[in-house]
Amino acid sequence: MTMPEQHLPDIDACVFDAYGTLFDFNTAASAARDELGEDWQSLSDLWRLKQLQYTWLRGLAQHHADFWQVTGDALDFALASLRIELPGLRARLMKLYLQLGTYGEVPAMLRELKHRGMKLAILSNGTPDMLAAVVRNSGLDDVFDAVLSVEEVGTYKPHPSVYGLAAKRLKLEPSRICFLSSNGWDAYSAKAFGFRVIWCNRFAQVPERIPATPDGEIADLSVLPAMLGR
Ligand code: LAC
Repeated sequence: MTMPEQHLPDIDACVFDAYGTLFDFNTAASAARDELGEDWQSLSDLWRLKQLQYTWLRGLAQHHADFWQVTGDALDFALASLRIELPGLRARLMKLYLQLGTYGEVPAMLRELKHRGMKLAILSNGTPDMLAAVVRNSGLDDVFDAVLSVEEVGTYKPHPSVYGLAAKRLKLEPSRICFLSSNGWDAYSAKAFGFRVIWCNRFAQVPERIPATPDGEIADLSVLPAMLGR
């Protein structure tokens, strides 16, 4: 599906997933390599996997807790699974989660889109505080027209009310919005909601088997301004 020449016309806003799409969740465990050693990647993988699972489980069971708690719970699970018990490490990793770095191409890509007059937003499971921290830490405060948290609707992606929040707040038809996520399940679900969707398939994953198929697929976000043609 990767076609660098693919073109998506008539888009007024780009709405980005945060974690894994703009912000690299691996940078937290990686920054604690001095304590984690070779376990850092296993910890990071399990932390992320469990974090997402807990959002889905809490959503289905209607036991919502915010993403800060879910992220901490998932970290506790991952640390216990890998038998890592180091004083102060949990607090250090949680603090690092508020300072995640962006993927390399992200700042220039966002500034280029903004320069071309595109509306830009984040739509994320993250709490408002978590999102404000990573945006500020990356020097991107002036870039976004809206930073939207699922906390406004009280449940997690892929509930349609989450995607609906972005359309409502941007006052745009879903068909005028290009949604971008590296998470296949998020990209497919946003398409099923009605957005136009480009799957930023950073991790070279195979297609999902859920409704519905994104409009396009790219390996990173650098080609996005050219694709949107403005
Ligand atoms: C988010 C997760 C899904 O930012 O990456 O919403």
